[in-house]
Formats: sequence, C-alpha cells, structure tokens
Amino acid sequence: MNRITLTKPDDWHLHLRDGEAMKSVVGMSAKQMGRAIIMPNLSPPITSAAQAKDYHDRIIESLPKETIFKPLMVLYLTDETSKNEMLEASKTPEVYAAKLYPAGATTNSSNGVTNIRKIYSVLEIMQKEKIPLLIHGEVTDPSVDIFDREAVFIDKVLSKVVRDFPELKIVLEHITTKDAVDYVKGSDKNIAATITPHHLLANRNHMLSGGIRPHFYCLPILKREYPHQDALVAAAISGSNKFFLGTDSAPHYKNEKESACGCAGIFSANAAIELYAEVFDKHKQMQMLEGFSSFFGADFYGLPRNTEKITLEKLSWTVPKSYDFSGAKVVPFFAGSELSWKLLD
Ligand code: NCD
Ligand code: ZN
Repeated sequence: MNRITLTKPDDWHLHLRDGEAMKSVVGMSAKQMGRAIIMPNLSPPITSAAQAKDYHDRIIESLPKETIFKPLMVLYLTDETSKNEMLEASKTPEVYAAKLYPAGATTNSSNGVTNIRKIYSVLEIMQKEKIPLLIHGEVTDPSVDIFDREAVFIDKVLSKVVRDFPELKIVLEHITTKDAVDYVKGSDKNIAATITPHHLLANRNHMLSGGIRPHFYCLPILKREYPHQDALVAAAISGSNKFFLGTDSAPHYKNEKESACGCAGIFSANAAIELYAEVFDKHKQMQMLEGFSSFFGADFYGLPRNTEKITLEKLSWTVPKSYDFSGAKVVPFFAGSELSWKLLD
C-alpha cells in the first residue's frame, strides 16, 4: 500500500490561539482537517456565547483564501457560568460544546471550575439541550501524583457526573492511561474519548530519559509505555467508534517551552494526519485510520461526515525543526525526525 485516500478528517480538540499567533498556524489545520473543535482557553477565556461567536469570526477571517475549514466553537465553563448563558449557547449555531477545565489543571485554566457541584445546574441544561461536555480529566489536588491525576479524576469525579447525568454526552479528552481506555470502553454510548498523536507515539521515556526534553511536555503528562501507551494504541486502532482523533495541538513559543518553568503543550497541527498514519501503519492497521480520523467523531457529535477527500502517499520526509509563530518560533512534535507518510497537496 503506497497511497491511501481518506475522507477528510476532523480534529476534535485543537488550540488555535488568537491574533498573529493564530494566523501562523490556522492554515495548517485547514489544510488537513475539515472541521475542528476549538479550545476556549484563551486569556481571558471564551466564557460567553457572544465571545465564542466573535472568536469564530476572527478564525474565519484568518483563514488563507480558498480554504474551507469549519471551526466548531466551545464555551469555557467557570464556577459562574449561568444557566442563561448555556441556553444562549444552545441557540448559537457556532457553539458545539462546553469545556470543563478543573481550575488549575493546565494552560489558562485558572478560571476553570473549582468544584463540579458548582456547575450541576448548567450540566442539567447541557444534558437537556444535548450539548456535549468536553473534559480535561485530571484532578488538581497537589497531593495527588501528577502521573495519577487522570485515573483519580475518573474515579472521584467523572464516575459521579456520569451517574448523575446519564444522558449527558461526554468526551474525555486527550486520554493518556489504560484506566481511561477501560473506563470509556466499559461505559455506554454517551461517553467517548479523543487520543492525541503524541500520546500514541511517545511515552515518558521520550521526555525524561537522557535529558529533560521540554517539547515532550504536555498535560495530561506522557505516561509509561506499558500499560498506558500500549492501551491507547490498541484503542485507536481497534475500530471502536468510542475513540477518535483530537490532536490537542497546542503551540507555544519555543523560548517559553525551553525555560526553567516551561509551558505544557505540544504542537502537531503541521503533520497531524501523517503522525496518526505513522501509528496505524506501524501496527499494520491502515484500514482503521479513516474511521478513527474521519467518521467516529462526526458520528458522536451527530454531524454529517465530510465529503471531501485527502490522499496520503508513502514518502518519507523530515519534519522541520521549527515553524514561524507570530514572528518567533514554535517547535513541532517530531521536529527533525522522519515520518513515512506525506499528505499530498
Ligand atoms: C494545552 C494548551 O497549551 O493550551 N496544553 C497541553 O499541554 N495540552 C491545554 C490543554 O489542553 O491541557
Ligand atoms: Zn488541549
């Protein structure tokens, strides 16, 4: 197999940032993806339907000419999010979901939710209006080890939300553990998960062995190869419609990652589908790539599948060491390394 044509994929978890930074990266996602769920963790965050609509319009204006790309906007939940705001969001055609960041869990999450109980009345409306809840699934309790925060979140928080809102659609985002894979597999059809290319292709050894490599630092943090990375790969290539593509491509300035307190986030929008292809090919499951990349997410959100196609060719190429990012640099995942599939123009 030297060429593969796929329905155009969608990215169900993407950080585009804003302003000049967004202009540097949005064209890469538009080339690869038909649609993307756009994360609302700007500073200040996108907490109202009106802000989501404005951000949507700025994305559209930043797109290179003649690109078709549909940004699907997300409301950032806070302790103060009102029922009215959620009703407003449900009537705003640009808004497709709302995001739960436990306060302090990750980049720009300080305005997130401090206690899930504070948003129960809002979750009630989301359940009724069929607005998916997207979850950064980590506890923030400093006494919980950073490698255990996802598993503890599932046990202590997610299981209660699922029990109390059985009809709520939930995407557990960027899962990183076997615990998450098992939980999602064992739950009913309302619960799904996205998996990033970096959690499929890397584990904590890549980040910590032979020196600290800040470009592998993201949240939730990379885990062990066995059992976690292996479980993620098995889930992605399994053909289960509960697992789908979400890059969590999160560009940061090179100097802000290469610092004494480097930012969390890995940039992968430049080669998203090629990175996933690398995984599926390595495990001889290329025939499963299209479902994961182009069908299961759309089906879960109740949206039509894309009709455009993309073609990948087996052609090795070296990922650039960096890209321009608003006049500075962003270092992509796999920088300077070879990938074996290339997206054709
Ligand atoms: C993301 C970012 O930089 O906005 N960082 C990350 O490590 N994934 C935030 C997030 O999705 O957690
Ligand atoms: Zn993210």
